[in-house]
Amino acid sequence: MLEKIQELLSEVEKFTCSSAEDLEKFRIEYLGKKGKITALFADFKTVPNEQKKEVGQKINLLKNTASDKVEALKQSLSASRKVTVGNDLSLPGEAGNIGSRHPISLVRNEISEIFKRIGFTISEGPEIEDDWHVFSALNFPEEHPARDMQDTFFIEKNPDVLLRTHTSSVQVRVMDYAKPPIRTLSPGRVFRNEAISARAHCIFHQIEGLYIDKDVSFADLKQTLLYFAKEFFGEKSEIRLRPSYFPFTEPSAEVDVSCSLCSGKGCNVCKYTGWLEILGCGMVDPNVLESSGIDSKTYSGFAFGMGIERIAMLKYGIKDLRLFFENDKRFLEQFSEM
Ligand code: DAH
Repeated sequence: MLEKIQELLSEVEKFTCSSAEDLEKFRIEYLGKKGKITALFADFKTVPNEQKKEVGQKINLLKNTASDKVEALKQSLSASRKVTVGNDLSLPGEAGNIGSRHPISLVRNEISEIFKRIGFTISEGPEIEDDWHVFSALNFPEEHPARDMQDTFFIEKNPDVLLRTHTSSVQVRVMDYAKPPIRTLSPGRVFRNEAISARAHCIFHQIEGLYIDKDVSFADLKQTLLYFAKEFFGEKSEIRLRPSYFPFTEPSAEVDVSCSLCSGKGCNVCKYTGWLEILGCGMVDPNVLESSGIDSKTYSGFAFGMGIERIAMLKYGIKDLRLFFENDKRFLEQFSEM
């Protein structure tokens, strides 16, 4: 009996097959009702008592080995069927759907790189701010209309908590912890209670620039902005400054860049003026320096702020600001890394 078991065990171990039919035949031959292993159990009755333990264990081992074999072959046959049936491995693979960068990020990065090349660092501040950093420290008079409920989103329970309306607040944050010389650029999201239209949105992005050191003059400001205009809009670009007013700068100016589409000749993008407005700027008001504990007799500085959406609209010829916020893939997929 032990010999018979050993013989069957080596048959089972050697067995292999390449089709489900052969496997089924094997299963019936060994494990079926009239199978060879099942027959051993019937013969077990005739085994002398003193051998029953050993023989019983061997029969069980044989049976388990055969069942495991059937299971393993079944699995490997169905796995190989998956590869060979219906899959043509010579076909080209499916292209991965890789996302693209948002045009606002592309423009923000490009502007940041231009200023980094002349030593500006990048700094960030919170979007949820307080009156001090957004208005008071920036020399906004108490009754200034920009503090008005119509422009600023305040938190109802505490009017000292508000969503920043401009990234100029980061100037104050930087001056809180850094000592001059300061040369920093602060990109970020800003919020204003504006009706949404093709030209305005309640959420948009700005980039703020701040430069403070000894002997910083208006000439430094002009030259820095001219460098930026030439790097971003092209070597032939020119800029012009128009006097303006901001509470935190004195003197203040608005800056236009020559229209790169018509080279200043006049077209419908520049409304036949040859110029496009790109940013506001000025010399940091001494009151702002003093509010942040910087001695305005020793130090002077300039600041500027621009809207990223506006710059992106000029760069890509986009006419409706709302497109930046709708996340329509057909729009977003058109912009590639610069
Ligand atoms: N904060 C201004 C705004 O939101 C933009 C600005 C103008 C920033 C002049 C400046 C600046 O730093 O000097 O409209």
